[in-house]
Amino acid sequence: MPQTPLFADNLPPLFLDLLGDDFEILPWDVSSHSTSLSRAEAIITYGHPRVDGALLDRMPNVRVVSNHGVGVDHIDVAAANARNIPVGNTPGCLDGATADLTFALILATARNVVIGDHFARSAEFTVYEPSLLIGKEVNGATLGIVGLGRIGKQVAKRGRAFDMKILYHNRQRDLAAEVEFDAEYRSLDGLLAESDFVALNCPLTSETTNLISTAQFATMKRSAILVNMARGGVVDTDALYEALSTGRICGAGIDVTQPEPLPRNHPLLRLQNLVITPHLGSASDRTRRRMIEMTIDNLRAGLVGLPLPNRVN
Ligand code: DGY
Repeated sequence: MPQTPLFADNLPPLFLDLLGDDFEILPWDVSSHSTSLSRAEAIITYGHPRVDGALLDRMPNVRVVSNHGVGVDHIDVAAANARNIPVGNTPGCLDGATADLTFALILATARNVVIGDHFARSAEFTVYEPSLLIGKEVNGATLGIVGLGRIGKQVAKRGRAFDMKILYHNRQRDLAAEVEFDAEYRSLDGLLAESDFVALNCPLTSETTNLISTAQFATMKRSAILVNMARGGVVDTDALYEALSTGRICGAGIDVTQPEPLPRNHPLLRLQNLVITPHLGSASDRTRRRMIEMTIDNLRAGLVGLPLPNRVN
């Protein structure tokens, strides 16, 4: 059987194993000398490479774009639509893992886990001192969730288990979720003003780009902690640095940045009241495997002209 030429970058061994022998992996070469572009019949986006109309126009044989992950802000879905190319993604399977890491960052930031770890290993830790590294109490605090979608609801569920008061902001109210999580709807400003912890769990769109900037930080409590599990572009990076370095807010836990990664000498990386992880939201063994399986299911369906199990456009 001839192998189907597949345009993909940097696929890990598990991905290659699950793809099997049916595909020829072409290098992600978008240069003017590329031979991959004219040959590829499908695209896998692994690790957020940009796919736009200009690229698709150079790939006349592509029948499907299959994204490893739920967020598709790196793909011009409208451009794919206009060319009748379906775009698949992997919703649902990563909600629990991403909500787990949201809570890991809430707890790590609030309770000084990272600074505490460094201190506990250092020569300076010579005697137990009860006034050391007093953090913020998470249980019983108010958690404001911006984006009460699939992931946001898993965050709300964990918040309830921590006896937190749940506020949320969405484009539209979700009455069923209000009942399920005892959640209260707020305007964005209302949520920011009342919350001890603000968790960003929304997609990056034109509406949410720089959603949290100087004016929004000014609305937050000085004691508040911001957790960004969404996309770096949802928060204005300069405004975040300003808010953290001037004590406008107490701390932040961020899994994503704009740009990503930040330049290695970026001043944010020197702040003690920031906990940062390298885009690990869905990076657990079980979830990663399921994401790969779903990516391949979408790929195979698109190649034979069947409806994708999970189609974005
Ligand atoms: C997602 O699912 O969007 C994650 O960021 C991984 O790509």
